[in-house]
Amino acid sequence: MKDYEPKKMKAITFTGIRRVLERAGQLEADGKSVIHFEIGQPDFVTPKYIREAACASLQAGNTRYTSNYGTIALRKAIAKKLEKENHIHADPNSEIMVTVGGEEAMAAAVLALVDAGDEVILSDPGYSPYDSIVKIANAVPVYVPLREADNWNFDLEILKQSITSKTKLIMLCTPSNPTGTIIDRESLEELSQICIDHDILVIADEAYERILYEDNVHTSIASLPGMWERTITIQSFSKSHSMCGFRIGYIAACKKLMSILIRAHQKIVLCATSSSQDAALAALTQESDEIAYMMEQFNKRRELIYSTLKELGLPCAYPQAAFYVFPNVSSLGMDGDTFCQRFLEEYGVACVPGSDFGPGSKNNLRLSYATSYEDCAEGMERLKKFVADIRSKQ
Ligand SMILES: Cc1ncc(COP(=O)(O)O)c(C=O)c1O
Repeated sequence: MKDYEPKKMKAITFTGIRRVLERAGQLEADGKSVIHFEIGQPDFVTPKYIREAACASLQAGNTRYTSNYGTIALRKAIAKKLEKENHIHADPNSEIMVTVGGEEAMAAAVLALVDAGDEVILSDPGYSPYDSIVKIANAVPVYVPLREADNWNFDLEILKQSITSKTKLIMLCTPSNPTGTIIDRESLEELSQICIDHDILVIADEAYERILYEDNVHTSIASLPGMWERTITIQSFSKSHSMCGFRIGYIAACKKLMSILIRAHQKIVLCATSSSQDAALAALTQESDEIAYMMEQFNKRRELIYSTLKELGLPCAYPQAAFYVFPNVSSLGMDGDTFCQRFLEEYGVACVPGSDFGPGSKNNLRLSYATSYEDCAEGMERLKKFVADIRSKQ
């Protein structure tokens, strides 16, 4: 038989997160205890009022396709939310599209907007699926390093130098997976000017925009002057409402861009699941203290994990948002890959190596605290032991 695998797919590996998860599963099947810091999925069951809305939707017989854009009721609720929280003014009739999670939104946007050979700027570190989807679209990822010492903000000079006549898009992830930090408004303003000057589009992945600690503020780049016309804003219910399995998110973009995006979305999925859309409508329009409870728990875990990393002297930006930390382990005489491999095999703690998030991030690892406080505490005890064992041999 011929080798049917196209060249572009040979460059796409199973994501590191899933590889670690599989190995952790094997260890657990062998009776070993594993603490899961690898997966970025809130450990909470979706709040009751949202589950009830999904059940009511099915009971009412809402089992048909919806408009390709999503139900108008949900789009109107999203428009209100965007207006109030993100200062984005999107017309629910033509500038909002409900998607099968942020992931489909991102894939549809990239596939719809790039031609083969176009260059797409990605941050290093950044959310790993961006690289794959750009390659599946036969476009070229161009990495720009973020500055660890500067709270993982862009080095705008390097960014400018990376722009060529083929640069079509920048993919932005703030709040960031994997670093848990936010790109500040001033940097976003400077970045906007660069995009305007060079006529570059932005895909702004804002999957974590509602998971913010203390008085940290998220700025949607689409709300900055001159950016609405060139930004595709992606948001999701997965993390903010612990709705990962519902597979529901959305895009806001100006009519001109949306008229391109909708055709890709239409050909890939037709529309998002109807009962998930009704559940998302409840999530946006009803109040519940369950969401505040989730935030409180994330915050407690964040404090515990950050303070332990600090106590151990492992450099790490103070997480401002999301539920990730991205410490640097080079002082332990190994890179993130070796650290993660040994931490899992010898101490039963699963983390994701930094190399999964960009070629220049090999000295880091991502630790997700979307797991119980008890597991976070046990994971930190194991981390102290691992670090002490390494240091005793250094
Ligand atoms: C930065 C970022 N964007 C998008 C997604 C996709 O989320 P979903 O498809 O569940 O909305 C994730 C999931 O982990 C993420 O971390």
